[in-house]
Amino acid sequence: MRADGVLLRDATADDGRALTEALYSAVNWQGTVRLTRDDIAADPRLSHYVAGWPRPGDLGVVAVSGGEPVGAAWCRTFPPGDPGYGFVAEDVPEVSMGVVPARRGQGTGTALLDGLVTRARARGTRALSLSVEDGNRARVLYERAGFVVVGRSGDSDVMLLDL
Ligand SMILES: CC(C)(COP(=O)(O)OP(=O)(O)OC[C@H]1O[C@@H](n2cnc3c(N)ncnc32)[C@H](O)[C@@H]1OP(=O)(O)O)[C@@H](O)C(=O)NCCC(=O)NCCS
Repeated sequence: MRADGVLLRDATADDGRALTEALYSAVNWQGTVRLTRDDIAADPRLSHYVAGWPRPGDLGVVAVSGGEPVGAAWCRTFPPGDPGYGFVAEDVPEVSMGVVPARRGQGTGTALLDGLVTRARARGTRALSLSVEDGNRARVLYERAGFVVVGRSGDSDVMLLDL
């Protein structure tokens, strides 16, 4: 547990809701509601990041404070016919993450990403990818963790961390 009372644990089958909230944060990273929870649920290109959680191969970490989830980072692979926005290869899981607004900027995101990378490496995953939109300060977090830009999709960069 960290000094601010945030605890990190493995994501379980009961964390679908926590991940769905984190996905909502990630989609609306600019702070305005670009897409509602219903919009996200209705768009398979977004809902496939959490649909059916957990699927075989899924891996995730949840940050908890006072017994409540305050953030999550997880990764999932996608087939080429149903790629994520950060798709690189079928065997490279794509990372998603989000922290509740009140908890941002206090190290939780860094701890979550570190926790996910450590777990993925221990499992023998060869690399992790992600997609980050222009202007999102999350890019700093990813660069610090060692992710490098390997592609471009719309107004987002695709980043890769070789494990
Ligand atoms: C990105 C996010 C998960 C990082 O979590 P966090 O707990 O704020 O991360 P940390 O406190 O460890 O901060 C690490 C860095 O993230 C960056 N950052 C990104 N968004 C930030 C925010 N809203 N507030 C503060 N820092 C933010 C900063 O560069 C920070 O480094 P610094 O403190 O040296 O300036 C979180 O800000 C968030 O949920 N943002 C909205 C959703 C999102 O963008 N998800 C990723 C989509 S690709």
